Amino acid sequence: MGIKKVKTAVIGCGMISSIYLRNLCRMFSVIDLAAVGNIHKEAAQARAKEFGIPKAMSIEEAAADPEIELAVNLTPAFAHYDVIKRMLKAGKHVYTEKMFTTDLNQSRELVALAAEKGLFLGVAPDTVLGAGIQTAKYLIDTGMIGDVTSVQVCINRNQALNSEFFRFLRGPGGTLPYDVGVYYVGALIALLGSVTQITAFGNPAPLHEPQAAFLNEGAEPWQIPGLNTVAASLRFACGAVGSVLFDGNTVGAEQHGFTVYGTRGILKVGDPDKFGDPVTLILPENAPVQVPFTHGFDGKNYLGEPASFDNYGHRGIGVAEMAWALRRGRPHARLSGEYGLHCQEVLQGMEISAETGKVYEPQSRFEMKGLKPGYYSSMFGGAMRGDAEASLMD
Ligand SMILES: NC(=O)c1ccc[n+]([C@@H]2O[C@H](COP(=O)([O-])OP(=O)(O)OC[C@H]3O[C@@H](n4cnc5c(N)ncnc54)[C@H](O)[C@@H]3O)[C@@H](O)[C@H]2O)c1
Repeated sequence: MGIKKVKTAVIGCGMISSIYLRNLCRMFSVIDLAAVGNIHKEAAQARAKEFGIPKAMSIEEAAADPEIELAVNLTPAFAHYDVIKRMLKAGKHVYTEKMFTTDLNQSRELVALAAEKGLFLGVAPDTVLGAGIQTAKYLIDTGMIGDVTSVQVCINRNQALNSEFFRFLRGPGGTLPYDVGVYYVGALIALLGSVTQITAFGNPAPLHEPQAAFLNEGAEPWQIPGLNTVAASLRFACGAVGSVLFDGNTVGAEQHGFTVYGTRGILKVGDPDKFGDPVTLILPENAPVQVPFTHGFDGKNYLGEPASFDNYGHRGIGVAEMAWALRRGRPHARLSGEYGLHCQEVLQGMEISAETGKVYEPQSRFEMKGLKPGYYSSMFGGAMRGDAEASLMD
């Protein structure tokens, strides 16, 4: 016996696809990675050969293949709307990497289309299902720090310098708030629920003169569109207030911060761009303690031979959680379209508030139910995998 695996196709064969393809082929028993597709079919063929995936396809062929139930969209942000719409129209469930689309109204349209067709639409970031954020959520939800009163998060990078190497950062969605801040916003929403009010100030990215001549010889200066540095204040439906700083106009030495304050204690949450950054609990009259993870998916490689893209961790967990929702006939309520919409509206709300000088009140709402605790086990040399995947079932 056993479950009928979900026949899945990955669309897009770029940098992030390596970790997705490896994990979807080998980590989750609910997934049958049947095909890989790309705008250039040769790239799909190369990836299919590398990972032993049965079929390589064009996007059109993937949409037309009746076997494929679920499409995982790993194309650049500017292509998301078209790829997602095509797959939904072809009757496929879709899971997409961030950012959802480059336009909130397009994202709303896609959520409505999925609902109309009775299909699941899932949206990254899926690091919120990792051991770090789920352990923090478990501690908050079980009252370890009392009622949450406030939260403070920050992250910095030199986004313009990064855009010399990662060319997609030069276009829509390339600013630090959208490219990296989305992991912080996703984690804030996963931990504390809906944001109801936003005020913000911001600054654009500078006009960037390329520095790494070997990468961009002779290139004209460019400017990443949108606000690259944002300081925002948030109010959550739960009553807590929050302070957010995303600075993409400084140096690349990252100084991430994520502190949740409560009536009985304080939590230092790790980097939400990672799956297994430590969580530290601070209670009065005690030394701070690093809390053991209550949940699995800490980003470590449990599959045997190490790979150069291991630092991308357990990406694909969101696809597996959605596939389990399909097979168990339960609602898809964690990394749902509503989650993606709320993340996007909060980020857009920061921009709108900074531009208008007014308080922005998001229309969307989202509350996430935590995963059941579950872990990977290293007993018997790792031969027994523990029950991490079981935590994704319900
Ligand atoms: N690179 C990262 O570190 C990272 C991390 C997390 C999330 N992401 C997200 O994952 C997605 C992909 O990122 P990446 O770094 O792999 O990008 P990439 O540019 O390396 O790869 C994109 C792939 O999509 C294909 N493609 C381009 N246009 C297409 C279209 N119209 N239809 C179908 N395929 C098309 C390209 O041929 C390429 O194979 C993006 O949404 C990005 O935000 C990237």
